Amino acid sequence: MINVIGLGYIGLPTALMFASHGVRVIGTDYNEDLVDTLKSGKTTFEEEGLDELFNEALKNGIEFTTEYIAADTYIVAVPTPYDKFSKKIDPGFVIKAVENVMTVCPKGAAIVIESTIAPGTIDKFVRPIIAAKGFVIGRDINLVHAPERIIPGNMVYELKNNSRTIGADDKEVGEGIKKLYSSFCGGDIAVTDIRTAEMTKVVENTFRDINIAFANELTKICRLGDMDVYEIIRIANMHPRVNILQPGPGVGGHCISVDPWFLVGEYPGLANIIMAARKINDSMPEYVLERVFDIMKEHSITDKTKVGIYGLTYKENVDDIRESPTLQLLESMEKHLADGLKVYDPYVEKDITQCQYHDFDKFLADVDIVVIMVSHSEIIENIDKLKGKIVLDTKNICKFEETYYL
Ligand SMILES: NC(=O)c1ccc[n+]([C@@H]2O[C@H](COP(=O)([O-])OP(=O)(O)OC[C@H]3O[C@@H](n4cnc5c(N)ncnc54)[C@H](O)[C@@H]3O)[C@@H](O)[C@H]2O)c1
Repeated sequence: MINVIGLGYIGLPTALMFASHGVRVIGTDYNEDLVDTLKSGKTTFEEEGLDELFNEALKNGIEFTTEYIAADTYIVAVPTPYDKFSKKIDPGFVIKAVENVMTVCPKGAAIVIESTIAPGTIDKFVRPIIAAKGFVIGRDINLVHAPERIIPGNMVYELKNNSRTIGADDKEVGEGIKKLYSSFCGGDIAVTDIRTAEMTKVVENTFRDINIAFANELTKICRLGDMDVYEIIRIANMHPRVNILQPGPGVGGHCISVDPWFLVGEYPGLANIIMAARKINDSMPEYVLERVFDIMKEHSITDKTKVGIYGLTYKENVDDIRESPTLQLLESMEKHLADGLKVYDPYVEKDITQCQYHDFDKFLADVDIVVIMVSHSEIIENIDKLKGKIVLDTKNICKFEETYYL
């Protein structure tokens, strides 16, 4: 039996996936509202295929609770933010979860940490908790790290089809957990040691961050040099060994914008490209704002309330707004003691800012400048509605002659 700890964006689909493939699962989260919602038969966020998976898991007897349960295997999928000052991982949620697990955990169980963690986190913070309970790791408890790679918007497909990594002290234990994940995962599963698994996951997201930063730096250079960055990337990518990504308004979410900091925090003075990339990507929302103010000046528009920001989420066609470039942009406005920009996102029902709209046409009717921050299908399908507006398109989806780009 598996007890999944933390039923958020990662824990919930993972729990459902195991349950719908015949594994007995109890999901635990300390958020009572979230558990009540799941118990009432509803999922807690939108994701393609999640509701069907949920129904399948319910049929197979999945249960949800705020309690920790005695189980053979624990899967810990709690948040791992970074400390804004030291840049190191904040392991507080993982520590608390493992401490709680240890209050019910029988001898012989495996604790699998799925949360993304900085290399060395298990050695530094998790092993001591288990040792303090008098349990011997490898004899009484097995420790495993099984980081997750899925992307919001395509989670169900990727859970089934991505390859993944299992880190364990002991090859046999690693193979046992691999077998468990193979109940639903058709991708290759690499078994390695814990530190390698920790580092590999962080390195993957850091690689993405650096490559995005390169495209973002290029866009700034091309703007100053009056060159078309998209045309340059298109032609450069015809080279057989070049694959430059597209620039954008910044990087959000709880992975790419967070995990590289773990390496900066752990290896200051060595993680130089990594830190530079983080800074470039973090500078993009402010850069978008500068572009907006330049465009306002060019059109002699002084009223900020005539500017509408399209998109609040950190990527297209999902409802996740965590660390999103638009939130960063709005924070930046606040820092400059300025506000008043109008905001709209079809996926965000809750009011995040004062001037938030919930109707696309009404939003468009009230603004002169539209800043496209997210390329939701809605705007791609309705791009003609932007005709007559001044458009700053950070996603390169609007092809009107007079469109402004990054
Ligand atoms: N979201 C992603 O796309 C993604 C992708 C890959 C990896 N990850 C990693 O997965 C981990 C989880 O991320 P997430 O996006 O699912 O976070 P989340 O915030 O969506 O969910 C975490 C859940 O854990 C619960 N929780 C926290 N501490 C708890 C405790 N002690 N006991 C019980 N419940 C507890 C919270 O209430 C919350 O519901 C993080 O390390 C993240 O970096 C996330």
